Amino acid sequence: MDDYEPITSFGEDTAEVYDEVDHRPDTPETVTLLAELADGGPALELAVGTGRVALPLAARGIRVDGIDLSPAMVAKLRAKPGGEDLSVTIGDFADVDVAGSYKLIFVVFNTLFNLLTQDEQVRCFVNVARHLTDGGVFVVEAYVPTSLVRLRDDQYVDAEAVGVSEVRLDVARHDPVAQRLEENHVVLSPEGIRMFPVVQRYAWPAELDLMARIGGLERHERWSGWNREPFTATSDRHVSVYGR
Ligand SMILES: C[S@@+](CC[C@H](N)C(=O)[O-])C[C@H]1O[C@@H](n2cnc3c(N)ncnc32)[C@H](O)[C@@H]1O
Repeated sequence: MDDYEPITSFGEDTAEVYDEVDHRPDTPETVTLLAELADGGPALELAVGTGRVALPLAARGIRVDGIDLSPAMVAKLRAKPGGEDLSVTIGDFADVDVAGSYKLIFVVFNTLFNLLTQDEQVRCFVNVARHLTDGGVFVVEAYVPTSLVRLRDDQYVDAEAVGVSEVRLDVARHDPVAQRLEENHVVLSPEGIRMFPVVQRYAWPAELDLMARIGGLERHERWSGWNREPFTATSDRHVSVYGR
């Protein structure tokens, strides 16, 4: 996947189907916790996508701005009720190229890992820190990569859905040194083969804490979910809150 560009994963094809599947039944809890942390706002979502989180958060009376690389994903957001009211910048969230300061900046659903180098991820933390108000917080939700380092031969093929006229496979290779997962969701049907590639550069929670420190932030909280569940050695994801 040397020729992979992140925008490849979030073009028209993905935008078309992104909201068809409810990937995240915990969206209401996500919005409730973020609303508390926003403390009245304003808030900025990095990688706002189709507005899964930003729109219900804005519906609570909090000003939510967004950044996203994909015009196709943002077009879906715009088409939803309230979608025209959000200020969305098309750009790379590593740079956080927006004016002003925010009480809450957040990046959820593992999307920090869509920045494919450590350098870009550090740049993101540094730029976020510059855009936080004094008491502002940066919230990161991401997986803990434990299951990846336990993969046999650093690869897998998962039968995600097996139907009579359609099969969906998730095919991946893992590079534990580059901390990189190269994945392709392959859909086979009589209409042909469709591919949805995605590459991520993951980081362990401790590395994220160090990136925060480089940006002048420190970790205030770490939970294993949006209901503030305790984070333990067996947690497979975390919700981390950083501030000054
Ligand atoms: C999995 S979706 C998540 C969308 C939304 N945050 C959610 O939780 O439903 C990932 C989003 O990240 C955006 N994205 C990926 N890399 C990006 C980058 N470097 N800068 C800005 N947006 C990016 C994609 O365009 C896509 O909309």
